[in-house]
Amino acid sequence: MIDMGKTIIYYYSATGNSLYVARFLQERLPAVELRSIPEELNSGRFEARADQIGFVFPMHYFSLPMQVEEFLEKVSFKESPYLFAIATCGVPYWGRPFSDMNAILAKKRRQLHGAWFLRLVSNYLPYRDTAAQWRISIRAWFAERKLNGIAKAVAQNDHHDTWQVLRDMRQRYHEEWRERQEMIDGQFSCNTEKCTSCGMCQRICPKSNIVRPAGYPVWQHKCVECLGCLHICPVEAIDYGEVTKGRRRYRHKDIQPKELLHDFSSK
Ligand SMILES: Cc1cc2nc3c(=O)[nH]c(=O)nc-3n(C[C@H](O)[C@H](O)[C@H](O)COP(=O)(O)O)c2cc1C
Ligand code: SF4
Ligand code: SF4
Repeated sequence: MIDMGKTIIYYYSATGNSLYVARFLQERLPAVELRSIPEELNSGRFEARADQIGFVFPMHYFSLPMQVEEFLEKVSFKESPYLFAIATCGVPYWGRPFSDMNAILAKKRRQLHGAWFLRLVSNYLPYRDTAAQWRISIRAWFAERKLNGIAKAVAQNDHHDTWQVLRDMRQRYHEEWRERQEMIDGQFSCNTEKCTSCGMCQRICPKSNIVRPAGYPVWQHKCVECLGCLHICPVEAIDYGEVTKGRRRYRHKDIQPKELLHDFSSK
């Protein structure tokens, strides 16, 4: 193992893919501290002091999740760290997360040194059903191989750029998605006959967008469409329009539901 100092990995994860990646790197690199981006936003901790700083997040509409973008605007780096990013996704290369990241980092006179896509499983259930188990297993095998290479590259502070296919064309989709943010959660509904009032949907929400005055969820129109609430509900009481009815919910096999929950109340 190469001798180096501390690494901070900021992660954002609704169904565990990005948390799995962050954990994978934590196990293979020395002195890695994981920090949850929603929890950093909630606590207002925006200073990062480490030799290496990484960001692991899902691709959302061909670019950054809204809260990852918000955090990148706010975070400040002390000294000159090695910066890297990994975008987990269902379809690799189609998008522009790293050029959008670099545009934000440029305002702080920084750029990414390493950037990688990592194809796992799409959790975007409104578009299509979760992949079959055999496909998930094959993707996991390829992902682990690629991750071993990424861990070695990060350990050596390697520079790594990547393809971002049709990145200019994809900007429009991302902007349109952001413009209709207040309408996103109008699509959610809860089957109150199935709901057991367990509260997991409320506790996974990275935006505190769910209240439960009568036990079941009510959405507050500041959703960032991570889809955590939809996937985590243990009785599948939550749906997104009609299209998700009967579709398989997803969570990365190595991540437990409780690892995805937030507890903002204690902060
Ligand atoms: C709102 C939304 C938009 C998404 N857009 C894309 C996309 O443009 N390209 C892609 O490959 N995957 C897309 N996905 C799938 C996720 O990027 C992918 O499943 C990711 O690994 C989930 O990570 P997580 O489990 O850490 O949340 C999208 C998912 C959501 C919820
Ligand atoms: S309401 Fe659901 S989809 Fe929206 S941000 Fe919260 S957990 Fe994510
Ligand atoms: S996670 Fe499901 S069962 Fe639990 S409170 Fe939310 S909707 Fe109800």
